[in-house]
Amino acid sequence: MRLNSPRMTVIYNACMKASKSLIRDFGEIEKLQVSSKGPADFVTAADKRTEQIIIEELLKAHPDYGILSEEIGEINKENKDHRWIIDPIDGTLNFLNGIPHFAISIGYEEKGEIVCGLIFDPIKNEIFFAEKGSGAFFNNSRIRVTKKNKLINSILVTGGPKFNSPRKNNIFQEYIKVSNLTEANIRKFGSAALNLSYVAAGRFDAYWEWELNLWDIAAGMVILREAGGYIEFMEPGSSSSFKCNVIASNSSIHEELKGVLAKKNIE
Ligand code: IPD
Ligand code: CA
Ligand code: CA
Repeated sequence: MRLNSPRMTVIYNACMKASKSLIRDFGEIEKLQVSSKGPADFVTAADKRTEQIIIEELLKAHPDYGILSEEIGEINKENKDHRWIIDPIDGTLNFLNGIPHFAISIGYEEKGEIVCGLIFDPIKNEIFFAEKGSGAFFNNSRIRVTKKNKLINSILVTGGPKFNSPRKNNIFQEYIKVSNLTEANIRKFGSAALNLSYVAAGRFDAYWEWELNLWDIAAGMVILREAGGYIEFMEPGSSSSFKCNVIASNSSIHEELKGVLAKKNIE
């Protein structure tokens, strides 16, 4: 693994340690699917366990760094210059249903800017990582976004709306109506972190989703940018807010996609 800095090594080690228990927990899910209680409580515990291992490891390396993590919230809140941003399981609904498509996501923010990040899919054993200025990587290889420049030839991925969201903003058919896209162009995979990684790695050409949280996208943002992609935060919301509306792409189809989403008026 080409980890260029001690900081990336810290992230990598924390992630690998946590993923061992996460893989074990995923193995239990199948049995729980058929039990009368179902896997919900078990998944919550697995999420917290994963988070705890990651945080312990990160704090061992830098006890004073800030942390923003989905389950526990904030630690060392006063440290605004150095902060880890963690999603212990991104793709919980997949995890809960025994679908092997979820990831650990850890980003590092320095003075308000995400400068490195790593996303690990423990079941497929795929690691996506990047550091600002050093390129983006998938396992041991450098990755780049695709060069496609027409939406109609592209594979797009989206997500949401969340169960409790008043927005009905991501209905495929609505977008299809206002563009010449077909159902075949648009997919939903259920992990924001992996969606961004896949755009970075050229598996998808673009991704959009509204009402994401910073922990869903922190690591993915730097991975995508270092792979030559472009991520834009749509109003309302911004990269520093807790609810981000995001269009992320290979850059070349960005404006065309934005045009389609704007036609639908986003709401
Ligand atoms: C979710 C996933 C999903 C996205 C949701 C996120 P979680 O994160 O990234 O793909 O559609 O908006 O909340 O809850 O699995 O960590
Ligand atoms: Ca998430
Ligand atoms: Ca999560």
